Amino acid sequence: MDSFLKDKLAQRIQNNSLRVLKNSNPLLIDFSSNDYLGFARNADLKAKIDEELKKYPDYLLGATGSRLLSGNLAYAEDLENEIAKTHHAEAGLIFNSGYDANVGLLSSVAQRNDTLICDELLHASLIDGARLSNANRYVFKHNDLNSLSEKLKNAKGNIFIVTESVFSMDGDIAPLKEISALAEKFKAHLIVDEAHALGVIGYDGLGFLQQLGLEKEVFARIHTFGKALGCHGAIILGSEVLRSYLINFARSFIYTTALPFHSLATIKTTYQSLKNGFNIQKLQSNISFFNSIKNNFSDKFIESESAIQSLIITGNEKCKSFSDNLLSNGFDVKAILSPTVAEGKERLRICLHAFNTKNEIEQLLNTIKKLR
Ligand SMILES: Cc1ncc(COP(=O)(O)O)c(C=O)c1O
Repeated sequence: MDSFLKDKLAQRIQNNSLRVLKNSNPLLIDFSSNDYLGFARNADLKAKIDEELKKYPDYLLGATGSRLLSGNLAYAEDLENEIAKTHHAEAGLIFNSGYDANVGLLSSVAQRNDTLICDELLHASLIDGARLSNANRYVFKHNDLNSLSEKLKNAKGNIFIVTESVFSMDGDIAPLKEISALAEKFKAHLIVDEAHALGVIGYDGLGFLQQLGLEKEVFARIHTFGKALGCHGAIILGSEVLRSYLINFARSFIYTTALPFHSLATIKTTYQSLKNGFNIQKLQSNISFFNSIKNNFSDKFIESESAIQSLIITGNEKCKSFSDNLLSNGFDVKAILSPTVAEGKERLRICLHAFNTKNEIEQLLNTIKKLR
């Protein structure tokens, strides 16, 4: 077995795609984390979370069990109701992570003889959830309505269209209005992952579906708390029936220890902080600034209105050495290599934040231009 493992790793080394763990370096300028609003490092927010925790001096350090056994709290259910209300949903169910939410949702709702129709650039968690279901699976070309229509014509059983509002690697946005119209035409159920839209897009950063007024048209939405909210966990929003169904059939919900109280208190407090839109405005201003100047520095940027801005640098070796060079110039920008993205689509993934200054953005783009 050892030699099999070593051979597989040797292949990764040969392809320049070996994954290794590195410590994050606080001295670098952060253009890589998902902490878009800077919540994870916000001292005021930390103080508010401490205040919230102090209200419950007897809270346990761990949940002590799954939600269905010893790990449920009225606090968790109140929080689910509050978040559901904020997003104009009937109900919500919190999962330990976005990965768990997506795997639990897709693997449980779609049955044999049903059809899942997935955008080709879906996040791994959605792909894994689809793979775990017994349903037929079709992939449509990224954001391509004709390709989606073709797949819909051949779909059987209950049909689910699965997409993201902001794509995690390209940063571009799905044509949700048109996709929703197709879903209605073909009586399909729409599932939208808003992981990278929460805190970034919409009024008070409440997501792309909210901005488009489509919240009620969607069968299930996933909001994750590990990106712009700077903490941990996720919620699936939908009907009361969907919530009960997930409690009964989503294995990634049922068979795991629930989030600890301090995580719930953190989620509650960060959601309240979204309503103070100051950081969202700063982030949106940085996105506009970046977009207004990026083409002066390279024509290889993928079109994006979100905090994720990707610059294609083909080839693992070239892309990796580019990000190493940026690192030695003080910028934390990650290279995203194949097989995480398709071969030929390797890229530098630049994440913009509310706390980045315009000067830092200009310096980064200047350095990229110089290095190219
Ligand atoms: C689109 C999308 N969905 C889900 C997830 C998973 O969320 P989490 O990190 O909370 O497991 C990610 C994380 O990278 C993501 O980008």
